[in-house]
Amino acid sequence: MTRISSPAELEKLGQEILAKRDPNKPCITICAGTACHTTGSDEVGIAFNEEISRLNLWEQVEVKRTGCHGFCEKGPIVVIYPEGICYFQVQPRDIPEIISQTVMDKRVIERLLYVDPLTKRKIVIESDIPFYKNQTRLVFGNNSKLDPKDIEDYIALGGYSALAKALSEMTPEQVLEVVKRANIRGRGGGGFPVGRKWETCRNVPAEPKYVIVNCDEGDPGAYMDRSLLEGNPHSVLEGLIIGAYAIGSQEGFIYVRQEYPLAVDNAGIAIKLAGEYGLLGENILGSGFNFTVKIHRGAGAFVSGESSALMTAIEGMVGEPRPKYIRTAVEGVWGKPSNLNNVETWANIPLVINNGAEWYTAIGTENSKGTKIFALVGKVNNTGLVEVPMGTTLRDIIYNIGGGIPKGKKFKAVQTGGPSGGCIPEQLIDSPVDFDELTKLGSMMGSGGMIIMDEDTCMVDVAKYFVDFLCDESCGKCLPCREGLKQMQEILTNINEGRGSEGDIQLLEELAQVMADTSLCALGTTAANPVVSTLRYFRDEYEAHIEQKRCPAYVCKELTSYYIDPSKCQACMICLRECPVQAIVGGKNQIHVVEQDKCTKCGTCFEVCPPRFSAVTRISGEPVPPAPPPKERVLVREKK
Ligand SMILES: Cc1cc2nc3c(=O)[nH]c(=O)nc-3n(C[C@H](O)[C@H](O)[C@H](O)COP(=O)(O)O)c2cc1C
Ligand code: FES
Repeated sequence: MTRISSPAELEKLGQEILAKRDPNKPCITICAGTACHTTGSDEVGIAFNEEISRLNLWEQVEVKRTGCHGFCEKGPIVVIYPEGICYFQVQPRDIPEIISQTVMDKRVIERLLYVDPLTKRKIVIESDIPFYKNQTRLVFGNNSKLDPKDIEDYIALGGYSALAKALSEMTPEQVLEVVKRANIRGRGGGGFPVGRKWETCRNVPAEPKYVIVNCDEGDPGAYMDRSLLEGNPHSVLEGLIIGAYAIGSQEGFIYVRQEYPLAVDNAGIAIKLAGEYGLLGENILGSGFNFTVKIHRGAGAFVSGESSALMTAIEGMVGEPRPKYIRTAVEGVWGKPSNLNNVETWANIPLVINNGAEWYTAIGTENSKGTKIFALVGKVNNTGLVEVPMGTTLRDIIYNIGGGIPKGKKFKAVQTGGPSGGCIPEQLIDSPVDFDELTKLGSMMGSGGMIIMDEDTCMVDVAKYFVDFLCDESCGKCLPCREGLKQMQEILTNINEGRGSEGDIQLLEELAQVMADTSLCALGTTAANPVVSTLRYFRDEYEAHIEQKRCPAYVCKELTSYYIDPSKCQACMICLRECPVQAIVGGKNQIHVVEQDKCTKCGTCFEVCPPRFSAVTRISGEPVPPAPPPKERVLVREKK
């Protein structure tokens, strides 16, 4: 272990680490992110270790466990450097072959390569895969290059040089000035200007001041913050220390959900190592600046990600919000000035300091600078973490990076901004994505969840999904949010189950307005957004549910029936065999019939009916035709 006591020593250490490393020595990197971990990357790592030991190759080969690469659905991911040969869905049984062929012999194993679904071409190098090639990975890029548990990996990539620059060449005021000029906006939801918040906190004449990382990340489908903290914790820590220096804080917290154990572990290791290397604690890099960080493990409530709730939780109480007549930057933890920023926001800071405000403002749009990481999930071919410059269009993200919609289905909408965001329809797919554009469209950036929906999605059902989520997550402290969400849930349930009545839409709109105007915190004020945005773009679907008792997407079970067309059924027995509740009767030569009273509307019969017959149909908004009487069900096959 090396204690570094000046910027010059940090630079020297970086050079020494690089000098010790042979750039031509094969390095096998295994993604150890949460998703790859669940698909077996640990076992893959063990298999590599065993095979290398068996062949006595430790002198010739290096193995590294890295953070999430972002293309999580293809895990476990293995990349072999220096070439960058990338293998997907690697299994322990593949390891001997990878070592003997690729590592030792530089031969590519075709079956483990990525196959481009459009061109059917196999791609060898990770950065050539369209999912990666069309991204700009300024913040997330190092995740796949370093071992998050090894501080020297981060230092070898230039890590902590921004801190050294800030502490040795800049005053706190100058750091603040650069951040303000970079015009960086918070990545956690509201897009509040970072420099302005820092300045407010700095100018409060009270001590001590706190700086805090928000890694609560409770939005369904979002996992960019945890992946960044898991995969590159030092980048977040470096940003936090720089922020503390600019604000005049000597104490910080990383608030991270207990349910993200890898993020908790890796952040803890990063804090410990940074302390040992002299990058945290007393007299950092010989500058006289002191700063310490603690981890606060969050109890896993969505509302606790809200700033005042999060700070209440840090104080040891239940993480509920309070009225914010006075902002938390002025009176936060224990009533002291507390600056809270999102994980991704903090990880941007070293880039801004190292490259300057002009470099940063050249990326993005007029009022949204830099890049943004999105969790691209739902009905899209390539799900994963995507980083693009602000202003990239939804179409580029969904098609050029996401690879389009699976099974040739039509794109219907994209939900951005988490549970408080909104749904943007197909006709607006060419909209550029930045803070202001998304707000204009009735959605928001949020922390970066992006859920893609195809033609089989019912938008009333989507609105209900988010209202159900928020109903569970509302802390219940204020009436408009607690009762408003319950009322919304009831109205939406009625609509989805065929009990919708005239006036429901107006009631939803009124409730939405009251909640927005009177709720205590932003959970309540924005809770109706999914309803409001689906009403704005998909009002006809609400009307069809209410007036015709019809679900146009055939999703709402109470409004949908499955029916086998007697003129098309070929008695192939497939649906009959697959029905999980034996609701289909028939035989080898007998036309099949769905017994409506037994059917649970799971849709299996519709899925499995061979397309050449297409005998199973979905019916909504009209009565199911009567089944033929038993004696008329004998199938007369045409002679060939
Ligand atoms: C209900 C609710 C949940 C929130 N959850 C998060 C979260 O998980 N992570 C986050 O960074 N911000 C979250 N926020 C936003 C924070 O209150 C705060 O604005 C943000 O952490 C500030 O950081 P930024 O300026 O860097 O965006 C949430 C807000 C609300 C109302
Ligand atoms: S966890 Fe491996 S690519 Fe995301």
